[in-house]
Amino acid sequence: MNRKWVVASRPEVEVQAHNFELKQELVPVVPPGAVLVKTRYLVVSPPARMALVSGGIAGRPIPIGATMRGSGLGEVVESRHADFAAGDLVAGELGWQQYAVSDGARRRPVRKVQGRSGLADSTLLHVMGSGGATAYFGMTVYCRPRPGDTLVVSAAAGNVGMLVCQLGRLQGCRVVGIAGSRGKCDWLVNELGCAAAIDYKAEDVGERLNQTCPDGIDIYFDNVGGATLDAALARIAQGARVVLCGGTSQYNNDLDWYGPKNYFNLVYKQAEMAGFYVFNFADRFEEAHSRLAALLENGSLIYKEDVLEGIEQAPEALMRIFRGDNFGVQLVKVAD
Ligand SMILES: NC(=O)c1ccc[n+]([C@@H]2O[C@H](COP(=O)([O-])OP(=O)(O)OC[C@H]3O[C@@H](n4cnc5c(N)ncnc54)[C@H](OP(=O)(O)O)[C@@H]3O)[C@@H](O)[C@H]2O)c1
Repeated sequence: MNRKWVVASRPEVEVQAHNFELKQELVPVVPPGAVLVKTRYLVVSPPARMALVSGGIAGRPIPIGATMRGSGLGEVVESRHADFAAGDLVAGELGWQQYAVSDGARRRPVRKVQGRSGLADSTLLHVMGSGGATAYFGMTVYCRPRPGDTLVVSAAAGNVGMLVCQLGRLQGCRVVGIAGSRGKCDWLVNELGCAAAIDYKAEDVGERLNQTCPDGIDIYFDNVGGATLDAALARIAQGARVVLCGGTSQYNNDLDWYGPKNYFNLVYKQAEMAGFYVFNFADRFEEAHSRLAALLENGSLIYKEDVLEGIEQAPEALMRIFRGDNFGVQLVKVAD
């Protein structure tokens, strides 16, 4: 049997358990030209909330009754596709389910991936997946760090943020992380080498940015948008780069975004603000992943996984992200 989560209703604000329904069906029959993939892990990330209402970058929400969208890592258990064989490891749009049928391209696209010796296969969903590529291209193409730059990172203890903090430090930046608990802030300073960390739930972000960035912010890597983006914009240095990766603080209200009011500081400081989409760099992912793998292997880069067990935990994983309960990348382990 295949257990899968379908969209039952649209959240009004926060995602709730009743927005999903767990269904059971026979494992689908594999048509010619397709493969059957058994899901091992899902990675759960904030844009899943937008997929339920505005539709996010896809521009249309997931229909009611359809399988919830989600990236995963799995193993081909049956292949009727010339390019895949049983036993292949694949990653891609598997959905929140135990078994997915993919034609490798249009219908639930997946691509073959290969674990690296010494690295857990789960890294293929974060450091060696799109999270790692996001951090890498966001930093190299958009942030363009210079030694001595002050780099501020929001959602700094999450999947993308934890990697951005470390890549910044390795490039000689002074890194200030923003996160939602004392424990996360201590980890940012003690384990990731941030110069300082701000607990935005307990501290005044503007005041703490004044203290920790006395010469202004050269680079702001934004994962949350909203009031934190505004606080950063008010404190940018001459020629700063403000890089919009995500806007998690706004995803629960994604039909009515908060507009930053301090944007004109970009003019006063002759600074730039740019958004980017990681899949525009899909043909360069190997470059990102080979560099990140080398950093993992020589111990310069670390990561933290937060793993829930069982397909039944997928909605809870998404709700944890918006409560800030995930510490590191949020995974759901579906099968060994
Ligand atoms: N542009 C791209 O191509 C691209 C690619 C990948 C990801 N992204 C974006 O990057 C961002 C980070 O993604 P991720 O997968 O690495 O997620 P993540 O950081 O692992 O998880 C989200 C974190 O956001 C924080 N958060 C939740 N609600 C918040 C709120 N209201 N205000 C401020 N912070 C809040 C929580 O941490 P705290 O405890 O710190 O609150 C939570 O742990 C997301 O916005 C995502 O959409 C963009």
